[in-house]
Amino acid sequence: MYTILLISILTFVESKIYDSCELAKELVHKHDFAKQDVANWICLVKHESEFNTTAKGGPNGYDNSYDHGLFQINDHYWCAPPEEINECNMRCDDLRNDDITDDVKCVRKIFDIHGFSAWTAWKNHCNGTDLSSYMKDCQI
Ligand SMILES: *[C@@H]1O[C@H](CO)[C@@H](O)[C@H](O)[C@H]1NC(C)=O
Ligand SMILES: *[C@@H]1O[C@H](CO)[C@@H](O)[C@H](O)[C@H]1NC(C)=O
Repeated sequence: MYTILLISILTFVESKIYDSCELAKELVHKHDFAKQDVANWICLVKHESEFNTTAKGGPNGYDNSYDHGLFQINDHYWCAPPEEINECNMRCDDLRNDDITDDVKCVRKIFDIHGFSAWTAWKNHCNGTDLSSYMKDCQI
């Protein structure tokens, strides 16, 4: 009983729903993302996780993998366990807390290799669209 209570408190504390402008500011000013890319990132995060740092997506039909956190990073290659391949050298569980610094490090690695096209939600919802609504009333 005590353990269950403790776990739910920890889960509650670590979970965070970002406001889109807050995330935009943090990506640019804290994590040095390029200003001209930030609308793409906000669109991507909206459609990947709805700004939920604890989101877990899957299982993906093609390989039963899961996607973790704000950026829905896939556990087939990038983190572990369950798979041994761990390109970002991090625990998948650490992608589902409210500290996004480690997520961002992994995101950079994925982006350097694949660009935005690594993210299905970006291809389906953001590529080639007018992204101005995602940054509406945002001063970054
Ligand atoms: C965030 O994601 C977690 C894990 O999927 C879920 O339990 C929680 O309800 C979500 N929060 C919101 C506000 O949707
Ligand atoms: C993005 O959209 C353009 C057309 O608007 C298309 O040519 C391109 O292949 C798309 N890129 C990806 C990665 O889907």
